[in-house]
Parts: sequence; C-alpha cells; structure tokens
Amino acid sequence: MSQPSIESTLHEDRVFQPPAPSDVGASDWLVGSLAEYETMHKRSIEDPEGFFAEVAAGFHWYKAWDSVLEWDAPDAKWFVGGQTNACYNCVDRQVDDGFGDRPAIIWEGEPIENGVPETRTLTYADLQAEVGKFANVLKSHGVTKGDVVTIYMGMVPELAVAMLACARIGAPHSVIFGGFSSQAIADRVCDAKSKVIVTCDGAWRRGKVVPLKENVDNAIKMMGDQGEQPVEHVFCVGRCHNDIAWGALDRCYNEEMSKASPEYACEPMDSEDMLFLLYTSGSTGKPKGIVHTTGGYMVHTAMTARYTFNLIPDSGQVYWCTADCGWITGHSYIIYGILPNRVPTLMYEGGPDYPTAARFWQIVERHRVTQFYTAPTAIRAFMKWGDEHPASADLSSLQVLGTVGEPINPEAWVWYREHIGRGVCPIVDTYWQTETGGHVITPLPGATPCKPGSCTRPMFGVDAAIVDADGAEQPADAGGLMVIRKPWPGMLRGVFGDRQRFIDTYWSTVRIDGEPVYTAGDGARRDADGNFWIMGRIDDVINVSGHRLGTMEVESSLVAHEAVNEAAVVGVPHEIKGTGIAAFVSLVPGKAAGDELKDALRAHVSSEIGPIAKPDQIRFTAALPKTRSGKIMRRLLRSIAAGETEISQDMSTLEDFSVVAKLAEDKE
Ligand code: PRX
Repeated sequence: MSQPSIESTLHEDRVFQPPAPSDVGASDWLVGSLAEYETMHKRSIEDPEGFFAEVAAGFHWYKAWDSVLEWDAPDAKWFVGGQTNACYNCVDRQVDDGFGDRPAIIWEGEPIENGVPETRTLTYADLQAEVGKFANVLKSHGVTKGDVVTIYMGMVPELAVAMLACARIGAPHSVIFGGFSSQAIADRVCDAKSKVIVTCDGAWRRGKVVPLKENVDNAIKMMGDQGEQPVEHVFCVGRCHNDIAWGALDRCYNEEMSKASPEYACEPMDSEDMLFLLYTSGSTGKPKGIVHTTGGYMVHTAMTARYTFNLIPDSGQVYWCTADCGWITGHSYIIYGILPNRVPTLMYEGGPDYPTAARFWQIVERHRVTQFYTAPTAIRAFMKWGDEHPASADLSSLQVLGTVGEPINPEAWVWYREHIGRGVCPIVDTYWQTETGGHVITPLPGATPCKPGSCTRPMFGVDAAIVDADGAEQPADAGGLMVIRKPWPGMLRGVFGDRQRFIDTYWSTVRIDGEPVYTAGDGARRDADGNFWIMGRIDDVINVSGHRLGTMEVESSLVAHEAVNEAAVVGVPHEIKGTGIAAFVSLVPGKAAGDELKDALRAHVSSEIGPIAKPDQIRFTAALPKTRSGKIMRRLLRSIAAGETEISQDMSTLEDFSVVAKLAEDKE
C-alpha cells in the first residue's frame, strides 16, 4: 500500500453541547455527561475483561465463558468457552421475559394505495414463530450448523426472518445487497460454497420492480457455465408478483412456511462460532468475505446500539435505520444490535423519494420515530430536494439523529440538526466499518459535545489512535493512520478462506512494540480536544454514497469489456454521492471512442457489479499515466478528474508527460 502524506484541511470550530433529555422528549440519557463517558471509557480500556464481563452478563448464555478474552495478535477470542445464540437474545428472550406481545419489527412497504402504505408489525412472539418456521424449512432441506446460506432479498420482514432463522440454526448467512448483479451473486455464492439461496420474486424500488429472482437464475446459470455451481435450493418469497421462471431448484417460501412448525429450539453456539459472512470491497479486484462470530459481535452491537442511540425499552421509542440489510449497517443496527434492546426496529422497503420527497418524513410522523439513522449522501439529497419536505411533516417525536458511511460535511450536519432535528436533537456521527462489526468512534447523545464533521470519541473498549507508519502517535491535528490498538468484541475474525489477506490487509501496515495493530485503512487526525476527524481512505477503496467500492473491482469489470485495453478508476468529489467514480479507459486498437461506447461501458459495469458501480465520468485516453515502474498514478488522475486545472502533483517519476496534458484537455 502506498502511503501518501496526509494533510488535513478541514477546520470547524463550532461546538454543540448535548441537550437535556427533556429537550428532545427522552426519558433520560444513559450516559449523561462527558465525565461519565470518560470514566466508563477509561475503565473499558484498563480493564476490558471486567468491563465486558459485566456487559455480557446482560445476555442469555447456555454456558458461561471460561475466559473473557484470549488475544494472540491478530486473533481475538471473546467469551471463550461460552455458549449462546444471537437469535435467542434477539427474539426468544423477550418472549420468555413476558414481552412477546411487544412490537419487534415495524415494517412499511413502498407502494401507496389511496394514500395509505402497507404496514406490518411483528411482535416478538410473531417473530419467534416465523423464525422457528423458517428454521424448520431450512432444516428439512438439509441445512445444518455451519452451512452458509446466501440471502438476496428486498427490505421485507422475511429478510429479517431469514437472517434470524440462520442464526437460530447456526448456519452463517451471507447477505448480498439487492442492488448487486448476477455476476456479483455468482462470485459470492461460489466463494462461500453456499448450497442455499433465499430470494424474492422482486423488490419494489421507486415504483419499479427489481427482478431479484431473475438475477439469481442468471447467477446460477453463470455458475453452471463456469462448472462450479454449489446451489441446491432457492427459496423464493412472493412479494411483487412479477413473472418468474420456476426451475428444479426453486422452492416456494410461502408454501413451505404454511406447512412448517413454529417450534425450533435455538442451537447453542460456541461464542466463537461464525454468525455470518459479509462480502465487502477491498483494494484488489475480489470482494472479501468478512467473518463475524457470535458472542463478541452480539455483545458489541447491542451495547453500542444502546449507548449511541440511547435505547430505553418501554419508553415509547421507535428506532429507524434507513440502511439496507445487505450492508453491515443493516446487520448490526437494524437486526442484531437493536432487537436485544427491546425497542422496535422499523424497516422501510423502498426509495426515499417515492412517491414524493416527503416520504421519509411521513414515515417518521406515521410511526412516531424517535431515533433516525441515515447516511450523509441521503442528507445531501434531502437538502437538495428542499426544506419544504421535512417541514411538511411532524418530526417532533425525534430524539436522536445518526449518520454513518462517510465523513459528513459540516453544512449537511448543521442542516440535519436544523431541519430534521428541530435545532435541538443531538447527532451521532458514527465511524465504523464492516470489519469493526459496530461503532468504534462516535458521540454519545447525552454526553459528547459535537463538532460538525467529527465522529468525536472512541466507543467503550476501543483504543483508537492516530499513528504514523512507525506506530508513533501523532500530535494533535497532525494527519496519520487510524488504528485500533487493542482487540474489541465486535472485530472481524478473518477473511473467509483467506488467512493471508486478513493479515496483509489489516495487520501488516503498523506495528507497535513489535506487535501488529489493526489498521482501518482510513486517514484521520485527532484535535486538541480529543475529537477524531476521518479524512478518507488511504487505500484504493472509494466510498460512493457511503458504499465501499474497490477501484480495482471496477477496473477489472471495465477491462473485461471487449473494447477496453486498460482502465484506471479513481474517486472524484460528487455533490450528492460524496465520491463519484471517474474511469480513464484506453481502448483496444480499432475500437471507436464515443458516447455510445460510454453508455455501453456504464451498462456493462452495472451488470457486472451493480448500478452503484456505474462510472459518473468516463474518459478515453491513448495511454494511462504511469510511473517508470509501471504503477498507475492515481493521485494525478484524481486531480484531473476533479477538474483541477493546475496539476500540482509531483510528476518527476512520471514516464510520459504528454499523457497528462492530453488527459487534462479531454474533459467529459
Ligand atoms: O472510510 C470509512 C467510512 O466508511 C468505511 C467503511 O465502509 P463500510 O465497511 O462499507 O461500512 C460502512 C458502514 C459502517 C470506513 O473505513 N466511514 C464509515 N463511517 C464513517 C466513515 N467515514 C467518516 N465518518 C463516518 N462516520
């Protein structure tokens, strides 16, 4: 990994103090002052075993752990020897404690008829029955502990049911975002050797049907053509009633469920048994399956959800995270972290501006949402759509606002507070990653003074620091690498089937006292008040609308097109997405550049990876600027794509200067 020098340019001096709980209609703050946070954080770092033993004692365990933590860098084991089940702690436990009639999931569908959307509420008892049934369905088709089940669905309650049924059985799930293409499904299913896929006929998105089942059919065909097709069963949930083909592997979810018994005892799982796999992009072409295990992930996500969002059961709260369950945010903060806290989790099926740009705010009003968690890209879109939309709804129920996915620009932060948060709700800017499992740096709403754009302070148990390449802590305000120096319960346990990639990606950049430390891949700084500011990725990963994409992944896709000889992809600032994608493409001799080919390349990338990977800019070039050793000069391309007329980069190692002059001229 190259290590560019990191310079910090953002300066933001405004400080927003936490309001009193009554100012936002909350019954209390779980952590009510900075001093209280500091005491708790100090203890969690000095005595992580004592601290997390107390947190974990709040969960149900079939067998108590022998030791809280075993750490042999880079391998952490939490609650070693303990046995638990994440589904039990999300669902059954609430029923056993007498809360079976309380709402667990509140769901709203996208279509609206006569001004009224379809809604469903599943109580904990309903959820237990549905999950039990689907666990029986899976079992009757041979799924047992350890089998990876792929889930490729829209945001319907059956998605939560499928995930929890897997957890119940001990079959790790691999959820693939419904916006990914057939090729992306095929790659992930093959890597995980998954025998089962759970899907829907279609998913509603802005009034249109995304043909999920058809995408799965195509993926299966692709795998068949490759001679590697592990899938034996495809369960299909009927949602949109679009036409679908029905083949030998297909099983009707609804029919199977109608015959299944709701009784299925949760499987006691070792704390370190895999709970799920989630594929994410890295700096090489191939997405990696991030492995999360049971006990530590469960404890970390539920604890962070509780403190970050100030979740208080039976206080009338309704929590809504707008992410899709196909991303880590949906795993941790729609399902696993929320349900154990006994605050209903709202799932919304569709687009934020369907049928109008007021949809989200109508949802907040309709369900009296108290916690609202979204992404900076969405906030920027709300700003663009106009203040009248949030103003048209009653948002007075909101207590805490959250953001995740990328650094939030201070302007969007302040707009969010004013127009959604009535100028009073605290904003929790939560920094974390697929790999960290849950929040690692975040304000607590009743404790942390916030500066717009800063994710502020480390979560309990997280020993975050900004260091240089030698592991030396950087002085205040100096940019450096974001590292976490101690293990935390929700951390990844590996990259599925690729030990070396795990070590190379996360544990080989920085050592402190000879020991490898976790390197997040982000550049950051810490200010004199102890607040962290994330400055962006330092590897070849870009963050498009808060979704992580490897530039190599997009490049491989472009190069796979018959007209393309070579491609380089970089991030470029984008008003709504935060970062957009710019592709520099050189063609196979004889192929004609032009708008038609640009459209064809965009369509090609969209079908190979998914619409989120579609380049915003494509520039054709005779050659790519490379160093004498053959490395593409990405920083230079970034400047060109961003339209910086003066090329301020050091070009002394560039092989061919004329390439740069040509690229800068060739505007989109
Ligand atoms: O660069 C950071 C950015 O998103 C990356 C993680 O992406 P992913 O694994 O897809 O997870 C996104 C949801 C947790 C990080 O390495 N990132 C995430 N949250 C923030 C952020 N950057 C700045 N501030 C945040 N709050």
